[in-house]
Amino acid sequence: QPELSWQGITLSITAGPTREAIDPVRYISNQSSGKMGFALAAIAAQLGADVTLIAGPVPLATPAGVKRVDVISAEQMHQAALKAAQNSAIFIGCAAVADYRMAEIAVEKLKKTSDDALTLKLVKNPDIIASVAALSQQRPFTVGFAAETHNLIDYAKGKLTNKKLDMICANDVSDPAQGFNTEHNAVTMIWPNGELALPAQAKTELAKLILQQILQQYQMVEKA
Ligand code: C5P
Repeated sequence: QPELSWQGITLSITAGPTREAIDPVRYISNQSSGKMGFALAAIAAQLGADVTLIAGPVPLATPAGVKRVDVISAEQMHQAALKAAQNSAIFIGCAAVADYRMAEIAVEKLKKTSDDALTLKLVKNPDIIASVAALSQQRPFTVGFAAETHNLIDYAKGKLTNKKLDMICANDVSDPAQGFNTEHNAVTMIWPNGELALPAQAKTELAKLILQQILQQYQMVEKA
């Protein structure tokens, strides 16, 4: 397949985990490394896209030519993502957003008590990609990721529909050699009337193929 050009296309990408404070010194987070999102940002910029990368707390260098917006919590990522998305032709949600945050962040460090159990009250975070896909004006072509340990394709198709996405990359994370926190990954790309399996390979190689599929589908939808 010939390489499609990203020249002049505005793209925003969320990447990495979010971190939800419990008190001034503790937080809830997850194992996302941000590598897939950073790889997508790096390659898209190399291919000529105008890339904004909304990054959760990860110790990764900013890829050349990429505009980076650092955020910590899901609420911060939500605000930054909505702003960037409305100025983008394409939005890719790669971030592993924490599903819940503290109902109230403790102002002072929580003290250990004599109790053997501690209950934290959590509330649901906004679904960032669903709110991007629900934009009534300046809605970008919206691409999500689904990381699953079982029923991968079924769950991914459910998310494609429920979150009203244009495309989703289904990622099997049951295999410790791929997915979260590794250099390699394999995905199946799914859109409303098709799918394509991309075999396990380095995240940078995979990023090229994913971007090619996204651009192809974006251009089809644009023309329609
Ligand atoms: O529902 P689930 O978290 O599995 O969906 C994954 C997709 O949704 C990813 O694209 C992720 O970036 C996005 N997401 C989001 N905001 C959330 C939860 C997930 O943007 N609060």
